[in-house]
Amino acid sequence: MTLDAYRITDEPYYRPAGEEIAIFEAAWRERLPVMLKGPTGCGKTRFIEHMAWKLKVPLITVACHEDMTASDLVGRYLIDETGTVWHDGPLTLAVRHGAICYLDEVVETRQDTTVVIHPLTDARRILPLEKHNELVRAHPDFQLVISYNPGYQSAIKDLKESTKQRFCAIGFDYPSHEVEAAIVAQEAHVAPEIARQLVAIGTRSRNLEGHGLAEGASTRMLVHTGRLISQGLPMGQAVDTAIVMPVTDEPDVRAALSAAVQACMNP
Ligand SMILES: Nc1ncnc2c1ncn2[C@@H]1O[C@H](COP(=O)(O)OP(=O)(O)OP(=O)(O)O)[C@@H](O)[C@H]1O
Ligand SMILES: [Mg+2]
Repeated sequence: MTLDAYRITDEPYYRPAGEEIAIFEAAWRERLPVMLKGPTGCGKTRFIEHMAWKLKVPLITVACHEDMTASDLVGRYLIDETGTVWHDGPLTLAVRHGAICYLDEVVETRQDTTVVIHPLTDARRILPLEKHNELVRAHPDFQLVISYNPGYQSAIKDLKESTKQRFCAIGFDYPSHEVEAAIVAQEAHVAPEIARQLVAIGTRSRNLEGHGLAEGASTRMLVHTGRLISQGLPMGQAVDTAIVMPVTDEPDVRAALSAAVQACMNP
């Protein structure tokens, strides 16, 4: 099995904010498990897609959720006309055939699910498939990468210390104004001046964090706004649709955000 379907052939656009590419490459050469840590919409998924492309290794992504079981990761027996057949789960596929397995929002899963990655992320690099009575040794090209949004962290939803301590961590955040404007211009196909205004709006919204807003507008939201503008919507309408409405249900907060946004649009 070649995992060809999981190979990324076209370069995903990724604009680095710091040394994250070199750091990840060092971790990859040692096959160390890596945690990408940062707020929503700041480029973690795009980064791992870019790295998988750059390193020419397949990428298997799993969106984690609270009902996910260990079987969803490692595999299960399914019944077909010949009887019961074992099906590798996404993690087992990556371990057996060599791929980066990206567990997105791993903190969402229950801790008893998370522990299946423990023997894979220490010196053993093995995956015991208890139900299949098999011990899979990790392929040399297997690497485990997880994402983690510290903002959502709570006492109940946090990684076990013994899980955390298995990972190197690379911190992500919204980039500098200049870099973020370049990203928005590139991704949304808008003029640099528009991109700069959108970044100013994003920055304002982030200043409202903690004042009613859980999180300000992410780079993703600014890109969405730019895309609406590139489709001909006036900036005010685009900002309302892609930022102000989605980000809060509170009329007061919405009014405060709208006012902050207006100030950026008519400087
Ligand atoms: N450094 C970057 N280079 C290129 N594009 C970026 C970058 N950062 C953000 N983007 C843009 O923002 C969008 C959202 O980024 P991405 O999906 O990678 O966020 P994320 O950190 O994975 O968010 P989440 O935690 O919600 O999954 C991307 O689709 C891309 O358009
Ligand atoms: Mg993501």
